[in-house]
This record gives sequence, structure tokens and C-alpha cells, in this order.
Amino acid sequence: MRQTGFTLWLTGLSGAGKTTVARLVANHLQQMEQMKVQLLDGDLLREVINKDLGFSREDRFRNVERAAFIAHLLNTHGVIVLASFITPYQEMRDYCRQNIAEYLEVYVKCPLSRCISRDVKGLYKRALAGEIKHFTGVDDPFEEPDNPDLVLETDRESPEESKHRVLAFLEQKGLLA
Ligand code: PPS
Ligand code: ADP
Ligand code: MG
Repeated sequence: MRQTGFTLWLTGLSGAGKTTVARLVANHLQQMEQMKVQLLDGDLLREVINKDLGFSREDRFRNVERAAFIAHLLNTHGVIVLASFITPYQEMRDYCRQNIAEYLEVYVKCPLSRCISRDVKGLYKRALAGEIKHFTGVDDPFEEPDNPDLVLETDRESPEESKHRVLAFLEQKGLLA
């Protein structure tokens, strides 16, 4: 089977729902559409090839540049990439759009207050207590995306609804089957 490679790049605050949506969409594409899919997640890359990097502006750029490079390579072999990175600066997202041939940006939007109340990994509690510095949304910036291709409002929709909205978007772009 031939498939067109593309990258769905999920950007948003910690706890907004990037990883959850990426996994749900990946499972659907693999199981229901028999597509070749690779997840690239900030947490995972930072445990392996990006373990030398922290959260300064420079390190976040390096992190995203490496991920964008891998995504592009995979896409050239027809693999679909679901990339979930905070990607807090517009300049970074512009870099991705310029360096990944088929780049589709999904803004996983959720108010900071809701991400704090979710506190999936307990990181906000630590950041608000001053135990983690440069935490996105607390004492480090998150620039709202200028031109996302799709916006998910995860404080108003369930993970399943968000998944279906992504799939409908891909369908409308002619990227399914
Ligand atoms: S970035 O900005 O795109 O390079 O970030 P990313 O590679 O996606 O890494 C975000 C995950 O790292 C954890 N973490 C932090 N996030 C933000 N700021 C600080 N200071 C920080 N320290 C650790 C956290 O688990 C992020 O994952 P998500 O899935 O977003 O919660
Ligand atoms: P991120 O990877 O952006 O840090 P996670 O996916 O780890 O975020 O966590 C998001 C949390 O929000 C999960 O507990 C998830 O169940 C919940 N959530 C609620 N609604 C949604 C939605 N529409 N999309 C994604 N996650 C959602
Ligand atoms: Mg995540």
C-alpha cells in the first residue's frame, strides 16, 4: 500500500492533551486504516536522543529542530508522524513548517488554569512551588500559534471528540486512505 507521508504537529501547554490526542489518532490510523505511523513525543525524545537538552530557549529550539528533522525523514519514506511537543515559540513552529514538507499544525488549546487543575504529572505543583524553573506557562512563555491548521479546545471536548475532529480534518485534506 502506498501512503503519503505527513506530519501532524501538536503544540500546546503541558497538560493540554497533546500526547493523549496523538496516541488516539495513531491507534486509529494503525488499526483502522492500516497506515504506518510514528509517534514522536517530547517526553520520549528527551529520555533518549535529546537527554542532553534542558528547557532554555536554545535547548527547546535544538529539541524541536532535531524532532523536525526526524519527522521530515520519516515522511519522505511515507511514514505518518504524530509529533507532540510544547513548541512554545512561533519562530519554532515557522521553522517546522519550512523544514517539514507536509506539515499540519494542530493547536491543542486549553486554558492554563485547566492544565494546572489537571496537573497530569504533578509538574505544575512543583513549578508553582518554585522547584522547577522555566516551566512553560508558569515562568516561561507560550506564544499562541499564529496560523494553526486546526484548533482543538480540550477544555470543551472529550479526547474521543478531539480524535474525531483530527480524523475529519485529515479526511477533508484527502490524507486518509
Ligand atoms: S519543548 O518546549 O517543545 O522543547 O518541550 P517538549 O520537548 O515538548 O517537552 C515538554 C515535556 O517536558 C516536561 N517538562 C517541562 N515542560 C515544560 N517546561 C519545563 N520546564 C519542563 N520540565 C519538564 C513535561 O513532561 C512536558 O511534557 P508535556 O507532555 O507537555 O506535559
Ligand atoms: P500533554 O501531552 O499536552 O501534556 P496529556 O495528554 O499528557 O497532555 O494530558 C492531557 C489530560 O487531559 C489527560 O488526562 C486527558 O485525559 C485530559 N483530557 C481531557 N479532555 C481532553 C481532550 N479533548 N484531548 C486530550 N486530552 C484531554
Ligand atoms: Mg505529553
